[in-house]
Amino acid sequence: MKGPPVTLGIETSCDETAVAVLQGETKILSDLIYSQADLHSRYGGVVPEVASRDHLRKLPYLVKDAIAEAGIGFERISLVAATRGPGLIGPLLVGFSYGKGMAYGLSVPIVGVNHLEGHIFAHRLAHPELDPPFMALIVSGGHTCLVDVEGYGNYRVVGSTVDDAAGEALDKVGKMIGIGYPAGAEIDRIAGKGDPEAIPFPRPMADSPGFDFSFAGLKTAVLYHLRKNPRERVEDVAASTLASVVEILTLKSIEATRRYHRNRLIVVGGVAASAYLRDRMTSTGRERGVEVDFPPIRFCTDNTAMIAAAGAFRHLRLGESDPLSAVPDPRLGF
Ligand code: KG4
Ligand code: ZN
Repeated sequence: MKGPPVTLGIETSCDETAVAVLQGETKILSDLIYSQADLHSRYGGVVPEVASRDHLRKLPYLVKDAIAEAGIGFERISLVAATRGPGLIGPLLVGFSYGKGMAYGLSVPIVGVNHLEGHIFAHRLAHPELDPPFMALIVSGGHTCLVDVEGYGNYRVVGSTVDDAAGEALDKVGKMIGIGYPAGAEIDRIAGKGDPEAIPFPRPMADSPGFDFSFAGLKTAVLYHLRKNPRERVEDVAASTLASVVEILTLKSIEATRRYHRNRLIVVGGVAASAYLRDRMTSTGRERGVEVDFPPIRFCTDNTAMIAAAGAFRHLRLGESDPLSAVPDPRLGF
């Protein structure tokens, strides 16, 4: 095979069908995403069976389009990287099996990617020059965890949520105030017009030792507050909820970065797209001597360039690949 390696990335862990083509370790040739949000919005959340069927319907077209947009032929692909977990088992099975089929058909290796590691590689795509070590906060709709990154591929989880993920809490509060799923971006937008100090929502586990998080109590506090105060301004509810979530995330992450003697914190995952969060994290980091970096918004929310980048690194640098007998793991961790 002539030329630099080319990775075909496939991501179907939840409700987005996504395909990317990556050259080398960080050059994105195409990065397509098809969101099923409209399909699930009437149910107020993702319906796994509906998601699986739609992935199966859309994936072949998306792969074709991603290859065409990359301006290459199928014969240039030298690796397939497909999300192996964590996520919903049906959707994962569709993408991972499709990836194995592509790898077999093209006689190239496949590497199964941990979606959470993928989020860390979003940082590498944006800042290939800012190598680890650093502390990483992965904050999305399904996960909230702090990971000490000694080097790419070398991780130690130092804290994670004991109940809901931060994005999940925002999505549930969004539902209570009439915002469609997923609600994070809209809460972030209307929070700009509200008062973050209007309602003193609790900061669960903010002062507890260690670096675990809890967001279920906050969600319940918002529910009770709304029952008692049905006329509360939604902008103030959004701003006060977001203020609580962001304060907890900021305190814990900056403290963990210092405790583990790192001077850089990277914040990745969908909730890292929040303007309010970016602002608070950056200013608190500055006060405490921690540099805080975020990928651009499009790399914070789910994308497949990050999955392809993680897979390319694992194969090209660590020599890894998976057998065709490998199966997805809905609870895959670090
Ligand atoms: O990383 P992601 O796209 O998917 C998962 O792996 O979960 O994260 C999705 C989460 C959702 O909970 C969504 O409400 C939240 O990220 N989100 C935001 C923003 N954009 C997406 N939360 C706050 N502010 C945003 N701008
Ligand atoms: Zn994600």
